[in-house]
Amino acid sequence: MQKVILDVDTGIDDALAIMLATESEELDILGITTVSGNVSLEQATRNTLKVLQMVGKEKEINVYPGAFEPLLRKKFHEHRVHGNDGLGGALTDMELRAKPSSKHAAHFIIDQVHRYPNEVTLIMTAPLTNLVHVLKLDPTFARDVKRVIFMGGAAKTQGNVTPVAEFNIYADPEAAKIVFHSGIPLTMVGLDVTMKTLLHDYHVDELKGSRYYDFIHKSAQYYMNFRQFDEVITACPMHDPLAVGVAIDPTMIQTESLYVDVETESSLCDGQTVCDLRFQLNQQENMDVALDVDSDRFISMLLHRLK
Ligand code: BDR
Ligand code: CA
Repeated sequence: MQKVILDVDTGIDDALAIMLATESEELDILGITTVSGNVSLEQATRNTLKVLQMVGKEKEINVYPGAFEPLLRKKFHEHRVHGNDGLGGALTDMELRAKPSSKHAAHFIIDQVHRYPNEVTLIMTAPLTNLVHVLKLDPTFARDVKRVIFMGGAAKTQGNVTPVAEFNIYADPEAAKIVFHSGIPLTMVGLDVTMKTLLHDYHVDELKGSRYYDFIHKSAQYYMNFRQFDEVITACPMHDPLAVGVAIDPTMIQTESLYVDVETESSLCDGQTVCDLRFQLNQQENMDVALDVDSDRFISMLLHRLK
């Protein structure tokens, strides 16, 4: 079993990522940390507790709240995609049985990584703010963490907030810049690849009668109604679940070791990940970058486990 910590801003696809992780025997979830992103820190924490309660793991897996705002920028949430509550209204009436931990996310991550040197993978499906707080507190972190797999940016320029910027990087570009240059072993699962892993309405129909159908149907419907595509298709991209999928089985994606940086000083391009695909910048590679994915294999694994 692989030891993992999930760092989330629970939104709809984060919820599905958490569910994929809890339904995967390959992963030993040490805890889940939360951050301001799609929704406020408080809401992300509440949503995470709700998802854990829905899957029956609220006693087993603790939730550790982290940063309530980006390093330098104003908070930027994504209610357009995930709704006011972040879950498309899917678990509104749930009464929470568990409370979040009083330990800060950064302290939790540091403790676990040193407790199990080179064994812990951090799966980040949110702005990278919490990791910078970790790095500020602990200069030896990069040495002891096994790997950080993050959903964010894009290898081939593509954006969902601006024409060139993906949400998780756009929401805290300074944090991404620090993380990219930290020496941590990184895997970037970007938007250009996650946009290939689409959950269609007919996939959701396949889950009818299963334990999570109501939640998935309601939240996915909300997500699908926000049209991020030029053509009208009834599907939602599985951005965050793919990052978990990569932790379960890295052969789901094809990667290349490349140099990636982030734009932080341009009003037009802030949050753009600049990926040196043609080795023009003469810099040392700083991460493994997903360039393609076996979408059919990933979607069938996701459906199989969510059934
Ligand atoms: C990312 O942004 C968020 O809205 C999603 O949860 C995902 O992590 C996709 O760009
Ligand atoms: Ca997310």
